[in-house]
Amino acid sequence: MKKYCKDFVVVENIALTPTFFRLTLQYPEKLPEINPGQFVEVLIKEGADVLLRRPISIHDVDEDKNQILLLVQIVGKGTQALSKIQSGQSLNLVFPLGSGFPLRGEKVLLVGGGCGVAPLMHLSRAFNNIGIKPDCLIGCRNQEQLFSTKEYSDLSNLHIATEDGSCGIRGLVTNHPILDKKFDTIYTCGPTPMMKAIAKEALKRNIPCYVSLENTMACGVGACLCCVVDTKEGHKCTCTEGPVFLSTDLKDF
Ligand SMILES: Cc1cc2nc3c(=O)[nH]c(=O)nc-3n(C[C@H](O)[C@H](O)[C@H](O)COP(=O)(O)OP(=O)(O)OC[C@H]3O[C@@H](n4cnc5c(N)ncnc54)[C@H](O)[C@@H]3O)c2cc1C
Ligand code: FES
Repeated sequence: MKKYCKDFVVVENIALTPTFFRLTLQYPEKLPEINPGQFVEVLIKEGADVLLRRPISIHDVDEDKNQILLLVQIVGKGTQALSKIQSGQSLNLVFPLGSGFPLRGEKVLLVGGGCGVAPLMHLSRAFNNIGIKPDCLIGCRNQEQLFSTKEYSDLSNLHIATEDGSCGIRGLVTNHPILDKKFDTIYTCGPTPMMKAIAKEALKRNIPCYVSLENTMACGVGACLCCVVDTKEGHKCTCTEGPVFLSTDLKDF
């Protein structure tokens, strides 16, 4: 799949919570095909001494407007600097990177936590486009950390688990009764312990589970080998052969 290195124009930068923000980015021409689960490498030029690009999932795509959306959590100097970018400024991206999620089955469950909820919006939209409304389960600490619930509800049957019980069921995503419904495929993205727990639940039920890894990355194109993951077929680059893997193909899952 061809890769592009282009300047986008920031249309909107909205703070969703004190630590999450959403960028809407305008592409100057027709966007190439982008698969759900693919990511971009963002060049952070201003406000931080950040040498390497930062990998960020494609949160959503508006093909009619030629816009892509990124959902970003502030965790360090790069994402902090990115949170300050304003509409009208340009942002250079290398995209679309990685393989993305395969669309498999008709009854599908998407499970996300933290910034791992980001690619699940585009994945939900892709399923909607082929006439499937997925179930989507989001886990977080409390209601204050929830955002974009209307957007997720528009594209999926949304289920929520909060650790303090302030919204949805009390507990972790693995405690949610939706897991007992019969699914053809489960997709998950979020903190590694959450993905491992979901993969385990899927295995118990004999359901294939695709996990999207967020290994530390540098080049994003298979050159530096800093993102390798141990699979049953040997080491693979997360950036080119992932970030999505079938959980049972991974050694650590
Ligand atoms: C394929 C992929 C898709 C991603 N998608 C998103 C997304 O949609 N939204 C989003 O907010 N983030 C996403 N991330 C994580 C994001 O790339 C990192 O949070 C970011 O690079 C941190 O940069 P920084 O300069 O702010 O932090 P740094 O100063 O580099 O690091 C600050 C802290 O964050 C930790 N950190 C750095 N990189 C990562 C990482 N890759 N994963 C987990 N912790 C990390 C560091 O260990 C350190 O503790 C994704 C990562 C990958 C590999
Ligand atoms: S990030 Fe360089 S090889 Fe994957």
